Amino acid sequence: MLKKVFYFLIVVLIVIQFIPNELPTVIMDNKSDLLANNDFPEVIETQIKASCYDCHSNETVYPWYSYVAPVSFLVKRDTEEGRKNLNFSDWEELSKMKKAKALSGFIDEIEEGSMPFPPYLITHNDAKMSDDQKQALMDWADSYAESLFE
Ligand code: HEC
Repeated sequence: MLKKVFYFLIVVLIVIQFIPNELPTVIMDNKSDLLANNDFPEVIETQIKASCYDCHSNETVYPWYSYVAPVSFLVKRDTEEGRKNLNFSDWEELSKMKKAKALSGFIDEIEEGSMPFPPYLITHNDAKMSDDQKQALMDWADSYAESLFE
């Protein structure tokens, strides 16, 4: 019985590899990109890139397993939804008000621990943040939002 279940699962795993699942396109040269157009402290830039850019920019880095179903289905959905909610590659196209709103959302999500998206952290060690690193990012977002209206 167990053996049958096992073989059945193997067949399912093979079959689902043939379901079309195109991952969102990667674009590396984005003229409205947040980090390309601003000069923030190095640690902040590195942290945002490591923790948020895979889902919130066009510069997604897809590891090999993001092409393997069923993980690929989740990667496709999270990247599409993430970019739709907040895309740092289009940052400079936002009005000041929209930027301020996005930065306030940025702070809320980090404070609540909802972002970076927890399942993503299982495979992305460099995206994990200590409390100090979180605080530094939130402080940065706060002062950046204020500087928009100076
Ligand atoms: C693995 C993908 C992934 C990563 C990494 C990620 N996000 Fe998200 N993010 C999403 C998805 C999916 C949504 C939309 C669904 C939701 O709100 O849960 C989202 C939504 C958001 C929103 C909008 C929330 C709202 O309700 O309007 C903000 C702000 C945000 N993320 C900030 C961040 C920040 C800041 C980081 C890095 C510290 C980050 N995210 C990392 C996937 C991700």
